[in-house]
Amino acid sequence: MSKIKFLSGENIPLEMHKVRMVQKLNLLPVEERAQKMEEAGYNTFLLKNRDVFLDMLTDSGVNAMSENQYAAMMQADDSYAGSETFYRLEKVLQETFGLKYFLPAHQGRACENIIARTLVTPGSVALMNYHFTTTKAHITLCGGTVEEIIGDEGLKVQSSAPFKGDIDLDKLNEAIKRLGKDKISFVRIEAGTNLVGGQPVSMKNIREVSRICRGEGIPLVFDASLLADNLYFIKTREEEFKNAEIIDIAREIGSLSDIFYFSARKLGAARGGAILTSDDKLHTRMLELVPLFEGFITYGGMSVREMEAIAVGIRETMDIEVISQTPIFVEALAKELIAKGVPVVTPPGGLGCHVDASRFCDHIPQEQYIAGSLNAAIFIASGVRGMERGTMSEQRNEDGSERMAEMELVRLAIPKRVFTLSQIKYTADRISWLFENRRLIGGLKFVQEPSVLRFFFGRLQPFGNWPDLLVKQFRKDFGESL
Ligand code: F0G
Repeated sequence: MSKIKFLSGENIPLEMHKVRMVQKLNLLPVEERAQKMEEAGYNTFLLKNRDVFLDMLTDSGVNAMSENQYAAMMQADDSYAGSETFYRLEKVLQETFGLKYFLPAHQGRACENIIARTLVTPGSVALMNYHFTTTKAHITLCGGTVEEIIGDEGLKVQSSAPFKGDIDLDKLNEAIKRLGKDKISFVRIEAGTNLVGGQPVSMKNIREVSRICRGEGIPLVFDASLLADNLYFIKTREEEFKNAEIIDIAREIGSLSDIFYFSARKLGAARGGAILTSDDKLHTRMLELVPLFEGFITYGGMSVREMEAIAVGIRETMDIEVISQTPIFVEALAKELIAKGVPVVTPPGGLGCHVDASRFCDHIPQEQYIAGSLNAAIFIASGVRGMERGTMSEQRNEDGSERMAEMELVRLAIPKRVFTLSQIKYTADRISWLFENRRLIGGLKFVQEPSVLRFFFGRLQPFGNWPDLLVKQFRKDFGESL
């Protein structure tokens, strides 16, 4: 992806790839979209993909793959133990991130299970810029807790800070002093901080945090699931790296981490997971858990075909033309929305465009799931499937009371090289329409609420008949149009 100057003087995103395989999409009429949303319990996770027009739920496992990735899948070496595919992937990971050992796992949360079981003891605290849902769940399962030490800018929806994912070093030092290093299971940095809007972490910050952790003997765990976008931002927003090779940035981050893991559903544009380390002791302890939870140590629950695709995908991630598309499209969508007055997280980050539901729907009380309500309304208005990232994605407190999220966001994920610019414009158009009619949107309540990770399969119901009112208004304004 590049931004190319047009005759008008405007810089327009221009795809540096062509599409050689396509999937037909289906845009249902608004009445049917409302019907499907009701059947899915107003939870976009429960929609069937055949009823979705643009799937912006996530980038996980749905990034476009390259012809070279597909080609590599054909030469996968299927053997339970000692597969050549494993050694090929291992070599790519060692060369790219500069770490000694590679442990395979079936996806990111499986890596988190292994890491949590290795490092978390009951009563311990894991410090991190921000939690991710599955990370926190695994730490909690092992009896630990999470403390977030992100800089204050990270939690401001609108900001001009280029690295909102950075850890606040004063908070880190204070926490180490207060808790004592023995009570800290690990410090975790999440690249492209997911739940605050795909916001990057600077190399300057990673270096400082690593220096502090190494000084204290606290393991630094780096979650590289969203590293592709973060590499782009380090190169384009951090002066020192303007002319750096992407692979050199990646390798430095590897060298600063004690454990480096990622979901290969995101990084590497296929499906799987990986843990890397150069620490002999940590490696031995984690290695024992791989056959127990994942599969033999040379496949770890992954298909060998996916492992081949990851190896090629990781190499291709070291190309700025490949990793720039998501951030450039996120920026394009954010710009269109901002021009119409729609509140979004700024600066635009990676992963997706994040709509600020608290301001969009300031008439809905937080206990009625503001972001969940807006997310359902967006699907009805457009057929675009987003993801709730707010109170619904939190777990209740032990006493059963709601834990209100710090931010109420709807994430419109932009998987890599999947959508076109006109699809981005369509999305912006329908959301702008919704913004003009935002008073019609009402709240939601749970009718079926799972006790863990409830956002995945909980079912909800609207207060009143607001979805019907929305459909009526849509027909009035768009006539026969879908
Ligand atoms: N860490 C981060 C930062 C993630 O974004 C994810 C997944 C994981 C770990 C877990 O990886 O899904 O392979 O088990 N994020 C997905 C998303 C689910 O939609 O943002 P996984």
